[in-house]
Amino acid sequence: MYILGIETSCDETAAAVVGDGRELLSSVVASQTDIHALYGGVVPEIASRAHTEAIYGIVKSALEKADLLISDIDAVAVTYAPGLIGALLTGLSFAKGLSYMSGIPLVPVHHIKGHVAANYLVYRELEPPFIALVVSGGHTSLLKVKDFLSYESIGMTRDDAAGEAFDKAARVLGLPYPGGAVMDRLASVGNKNTVRFTVSSVDGAEFDFSFSGLKTSVINYVHNHKSRGNELDQTFIADTAASYTDALVKTITTRLNLLLERGSVLPIVLAGGVAANSHLRKAVGELAESYGVKLYLPPLSLCGDNAAMIAAQGYYEFKAGVTAPLSQNAFATKNI
Ligand code: KG4
Ligand code: ZN
Repeated sequence: MYILGIETSCDETAAAVVGDGRELLSSVVASQTDIHALYGGVVPEIASRAHTEAIYGIVKSALEKADLLISDIDAVAVTYAPGLIGALLTGLSFAKGLSYMSGIPLVPVHHIKGHVAANYLVYRELEPPFIALVVSGGHTSLLKVKDFLSYESIGMTRDDAAGEAFDKAARVLGLPYPGGAVMDRLASVGNKNTVRFTVSSVDGAEFDFSFSGLKTSVINYVHNHKSRGNELDQTFIADTAASYTDALVKTITTRLNLLLERGSVLPIVLAGGVAANSHLRKAVGELAESYGVKLYLPPLSLCGDNAAMIAAQGYYEFKAGVTAPLSQNAFATKNI
């Protein structure tokens, strides 16, 4: 069964074709990063317009690369939530038009479930139940994946997402947007013991995350440094990146550690753009190993937003009978 996936929830216009939920036949991603970098972050209206311009070519290219025609496709899976509303509507409306004119069923996919499903494309043996840690630019969630369709939330961020916290620190350090990958590289060369940033906890919700305090700390730390007349030199930037990354990674791993301490033996699956972070991958790897729990790390190519993950999840949704009418709407926020 061939599923065409379409993803436009933020600043990547993506289309992909996946066979039987596991076989990646094509994946095309057009990133708008360069445009948004000029403004230091994603500008929603620009994102919607860029999706509108790119979507037809990207879908066409995904079909061509898979060597398939639209008539070969069994269902079109599209991200309908959560994300930037104008951006989501672009992909959803295109998918609805495609479904209408070709008679192919429309399958709505939740973006976070898509991120998790990216792992199905590389780990053929991976099946629920498992624990998923989704860390991206817009989301930070610890989830129990009970089956391919039903998820239970264990913990989530109360404020910013992990990726947002990386991007903000990068910005205050004068690094280009999106700063996650650059922070990752700098943290590898800096000294993580230079600054003692606090690892936060959330009162009464031990599995929830909070990154806003950490974000404010780095902003204040850099401003104090500058107000004393100091330069943001390479050593300062790298040491701050290393110390910040250490605290941010610990904020994430303490929750996972608690879950394991409480006796969870389910495999752990990492997902989302921040799952590309080498320090997080290493820390979670060590944690899983110390508890003898199996860990699945997505390849870097499938961490960030893409449509292959939407097609993979779409396959399981479609198989379970989930389809949407052509009146399907998009939602900026939506519980998993
Ligand atoms: O999953 P994604 O592409 O978009 C959302 O669904 O939000 O995640 C993008 C986020 C950005 O904040 C980016 O800075 C971050 O992932 N990111 C990283 C790394 N690579 C991308 N953060 C930390 N380390 C990385 N290596
Ligand atoms: Zn995402």
